[in-house]
Amino acid sequence: MSKLKNNVANYAIIGFGNIGQALARAFARKGIEVSVATTRDPESFASSAAAIGPTIIPTTLAEAIKADIIFLAVRFESHPYVAKALPTWQGKIIVDVTNAYGVSPEKLGGQPSARVVAQAFAGARLVKGFNHLVAAVLGQDPAVHGGRRVVFLSSDDDGAAAEIGALAEDLGFSPIKLGGLSEGGLLVQARGNSWGQLIFKDLVKFD
Ligand SMILES: NC(=O)c1ccc[n+]([C@@H]2O[C@H](COP(=O)([O-])OP(=O)(O)OC[C@H]3O[C@@H](n4cnc5c(N)ncnc54)[C@H](OP(=O)(O)O)[C@@H]3O)[C@@H](O)[C@H]2O)c1
Repeated sequence: MSKLKNNVANYAIIGFGNIGQALARAFARKGIEVSVATTRDPESFASSAAAIGPTIIPTTLAEAIKADIIFLAVRFESHPYVAKALPTWQGKIIVDVTNAYGVSPEKLGGQPSARVVAQAFAGARLVKGFNHLVAAVLGQDPAVHGGRRVVFLSSDDDGAAAEIGALAEDLGFSPIKLGGLSEGGLLVQARGNSWGQLIFKDLVKFD
């Protein structure tokens, strides 16, 4: 399934480490085009992208951020550097896959980490999600034991959560909406040295 718009993939993954590659596997499994970018020259990770599948497009950060829906799969500490790549993220959805484990709540001004990320990506609609599974599990086919692996989504924008929910279904997952970032969303956010209650729970939903 091609989602190319003006030769730019409609989806991008920023960060192509453990979790970026796990997400890329989900796109490749369904034949959906997705750009992947890191701080490095795309040639340096082109063979890893090709090994995952032909719909995984290694590119530069500048190109990847042209996508409408962008998965942020970098370490939490790196998010401000990605955010600086555009003066405004208006019109885009950022899917925050980071876990701010070990970051002191004081450093976040007492706010949930996803809210800090949302503020950095000014103008974007932010959805927290796909972050509760370890990369080795997220990268597996979500169709397991006759059900579908769950991803939790939370957002202060219901429309954005619905769009990412539809994408999660296209990728074969079963999305569960938790509500706003500071409400149900807290169940999937790390705080200091504590994990949210739903993080690293390998849940499967049976329809
Ligand atoms: N690992 C897991 O099981 C897991 C599970 C759930 C959530 N998470 C969360 O997912 C995030 C990524 O974890 P990971 O284990 O995948 O980390 P990782 O293996 O260290 O990968 C981080 C990636 O981010 C890229 N990156 C760093 N700064 C960047 C920038 N300014 N612009 C573009 N790309 C940049 C790195 O590219 P370079 O190589 O060019 O530096 C690298 O590809 C973290 O927030 C983590 O908490 C991880």
